Amino acid sequence: MNLLSDPNVYEPQEDSFLMQRLVSQFAFGSVLEIGAGSGILSITAAEKKSVLSVLACDINEKALVLAKKNAALNSVEKKIRFAKSDLFSNLGKKRFDFIIFNPPYLPADRRCPDDMMEKALSGGKKGHETLERFLISFSHHLRPEGKALIIFSSLTGKAKIDSLISECVLEKEEVASEKLGFEELYSYLISKSALLKKIEFCGISSVRKFAKGHRGIVYSGILRGRKVAIKAENPDSKAIGRIQNEERMLSIVNAKGIGPKLLISENDFFVEKFVEGEKILEYLSGCSKKEALLVISKILKQCFILDKMGIGKEEMHHPIKHVLVPKNRAVMIDFERAHFAKSPSNVTQFCQFICSSMISGLLSEKGLKIDRNSILGLCREYKKDYSKEKLRTIITSIGN
Ligand SMILES: Nc1ncnc2c1ncn2[C@@H]1O[C@H](COP(=O)(O)OP(=O)(O)OP(=O)(O)O)[C@@H](O)[C@H]1O
Ligand SMILES: [Mg+2]
Repeated sequence: MNLLSDPNVYEPQEDSFLMQRLVSQFAFGSVLEIGAGSGILSITAAEKKSVLSVLACDINEKALVLAKKNAALNSVEKKIRFAKSDLFSNLGKKRFDFIIFNPPYLPADRRCPDDMMEKALSGGKKGHETLERFLISFSHHLRPEGKALIIFSSLTGKAKIDSLISECVLEKEEVASEKLGFEELYSYLISKSALLKKIEFCGISSVRKFAKGHRGIVYSGILRGRKVAIKAENPDSKAIGRIQNEERMLSIVNAKGIGPKLLISENDFFVEKFVEGEKILEYLSGCSKKEALLVISKILKQCFILDKMGIGKEEMHHPIKHVLVPKNRAVMIDFERAHFAKSPSNVTQFCQFICSSMISGLLSEKGLKIDRNSILGLCREYKKDYSKEKLRTIITSIGN
């Protein structure tokens, strides 16, 4: 391949040549290259019969001018289009089969005088920042069965890149590695995991791992401009049918205004509204006496509704992770263990929580006296007939 050079554009080096071999091996369909530089990889892709078209992008206009010249020099100019873009900023909603990215992956080098050359080399302060921006946004531009080819160095931090890939629900195959003196280069072929494909098929984008529980994994994502939570089975868990049970119970309690709104039900995951709010303990630690009373009574009222529906939510005596408080509301989450029960104990369990030494101490610092014996006595009375009056007595006794 004949290539002209320009002092303002990254000149192909070992990493480019390694990527070149991989592009000839793997590229197919419609190809996008981010950070095309001299054009070496886009030209290599365009030379393949199985590649239909190439879009070569760079943030540096001088690189685009040079890459265009090089494409003509190698007679592939008809197959390549060029666009100025900072990662995907200028690409709209276009999707590709194969995305190539030879990113700037070295930790920032302050000695580099020229801004554009600095951009071509330095991946940010720690080296992984540009690749991180790429990893969290490229899936939107990749078709479901598409692949992305990336390269980075041991100086970028392999563990960090691996954890970013898993956080973005992606899968990787290490397709090459090469020792280069004091560093080692790694090249990955990245694809969407089966779960990510299914979640994206529902119209959800920006999917990220959010929290890992014992039985489930919760992801966040964006659906029609709104943040959503996606709960799927934790593959390490032996529990069976939890997701299906939670979907069913959530749709039942949603009808009474309880729990995050269930938006989508699938076999192995469901999607619900994302609740922006502090966990109950954090909230109670920072709020006023009046706010604490209000939130406690809201939770007790929801517990009462569940009791009346004959549903035991379970874990309400320890709802540290399972009640979120967005702006003086209280939203119960995690209905995986909820079940129909003859004598549900939601109100009683939550009262046990309030009476536990940790919470009662916290509340008494705010001036809320918690009389454990009296409250638990009232709970016993309440459980005889689940009456609204007795619930009111419990709430009033907490306020006094
Ligand atoms: N709808 C939601 N909105 C906001 N955050 C959520 C939502 N659902 C879950 N989370 C977050 O994810 C965490 C784990 O969720 P959840 O308790 O439902 O998972 P789990 O797998 O059942 O966990 P565990 O096995 O520990 O009970 C919660 O503690 C909360 O921080
Ligand atoms: Mg749970």
